[in-house]
Parts: sequence; structure tokens; C-alpha cells
Amino acid sequence: MYKVVLFRHGESQWNLENRFTGWTDVDLTENGRAEAVRAGKLLKEAGFKFDIAFTSLLTRAIRTLWTVLDEMGQMYIPVHPDWHLNERHYGALQGLNKAETAAQYGDEQVLIWRRAYAVAPNPLDKEDPRWPGNDERYAHIPKDLLPTTECLKDTVERVIPYWEETIVPFIKAGQNVVIAAHGNSLRALVKHLDHISNDDIVNLNIPTAQPLVYELDERMKPIRSYYLGDAEAIAAATAAVANQGKAK
Ligand code: 3PG
Repeated sequence: MYKVVLFRHGESQWNLENRFTGWTDVDLTENGRAEAVRAGKLLKEAGFKFDIAFTSLLTRAIRTLWTVLDEMGQMYIPVHPDWHLNERHYGALQGLNKAETAAQYGDEQVLIWRRAYAVAPNPLDKEDPRWPGNDERYAHIPKDLLPTTECLKDTVERVIPYWEETIVPFIKAGQNVVIAAHGNSLRALVKHLDHISNDDIVNLNIPTAQPLVYELDERMKPIRSYYLGDAEAIAAATAAVANQGKAK
């Protein structure tokens, strides 16, 4: 049996301000850092030891990972930051307030933009500073791979090949893997692992900085999965994420 641990970053400044973030590189709030410390303590108490970590190129995920590993006394393990694990690109919505957008376009439309599998928000122009082709951290990536917007399907199409080709070989080699990523890049991975349908994925929300443990068989099929920590608090945090896209 294999195990992999996933977690979303702690609360970011734009989570606090309830703004569509996507690839915008905002840092954690004080609360987000405290959430990461709590996640590290939970993992340490449960006896987890990691050999290798994967994360995105975004500060909020990297800092959450560092904080968790620091708390666990495991900062020495190799960390692989890679753009394939970045948040879903939110296109022209990036920077807008979610509740204000819902007041303007309706809760239903915002739910579609946030959660529908194959509907992407309007794309950015390539002159827009929010397009990753204008950000030097992505200079090593062919420009035609860099998104101007994404729906979850697009995110699945970059996350799952990375999971299968880069991460799974480490798991199969017996390494204990931890992945620090984002609400929607993790929805993409969970959809794949749990075979969630395109319709049902609308209802899946991932709370910040809650370690999610998957036990996998040799074919990488889940035997079981569970969040570490208090079930009621996790349910409340998950419902709060779902409600961020409502006008009030
Ligand atoms: C964002 O990019 O705004 C968040 O990280 C995830 O947002 P969502 O829950 O609205 O998809």
C-alpha cells in the first residue's frame, strides 16, 4: 500500500479579500501561516515522514510547504516546484472580488465560472501583465503552453500528465510524497484519483491547509482517503469555500 499527502496552501491575502486569484502570486496572511503551522503539527503528531515534496511556482503554496516541513523538522527533503501544479488560471476574472462579481453577474454564473468542468472565464490578451508569458518566472516554458484562461478540464490536462509521469514514479519507488498545491489543481487531481464525473466535480471544494491523505494500491487506485484533523471544522471550512462565490 502507498500513501500520498495533499494539501492546499493556507489562507492567502486574496482569499481574505475574496478575490479571484489564479496565477496571481499573493502571499499567505498571518492566519494562513498559522493554518500551515497547524497542518505541520497534525502531520507530525500522526507520525508522517516525507522523502520528497512537489509544489507549484506560487509563493502561497511554497511557503505553506516550507512551514509544514519546518514544523515537522523535515526541511531537508528535496522540494520540486513546478508550474504544472499551479492554480487554475482564472483569466480575466483574476483580481475581481467574487461576491461583487456574483452581485453583477448572478450567483449561478459565478458558480459556472468557478466550478463547471469545461467553461472557462474570458481569456486575457497576451499584452496583459496578468498573462504568465509576461512573467519571467515562466520564461523557461514554451509560450504556447502558458494559459490566457483555464477551465478545470484544462487544469486536469496539465496536472494529470505531471502526476503520472513525474510524481507517480517516486510513489511506486516507495518514496513518501507530499504535494502542496491549490484549490483547483487539487480538484483536478482528486477528480482523477476518485473518478469523479464532470457533473459531480461542481460540488467538490478543498479547504485551505488541511492535510488530505490518500492510501493507494499498486495501480494508484485509492483504497481510502481522509482529512487529518477535526471533521466538523473541515466541513465548515469546506462550506465556506463553496460560499465565497455568492453575492451575500
Ligand atoms: C482562486 O484562484 O481564487 C482560489 O485559489 C480558488 O478559487 P475558487 O475556489 O473560487 O475556485
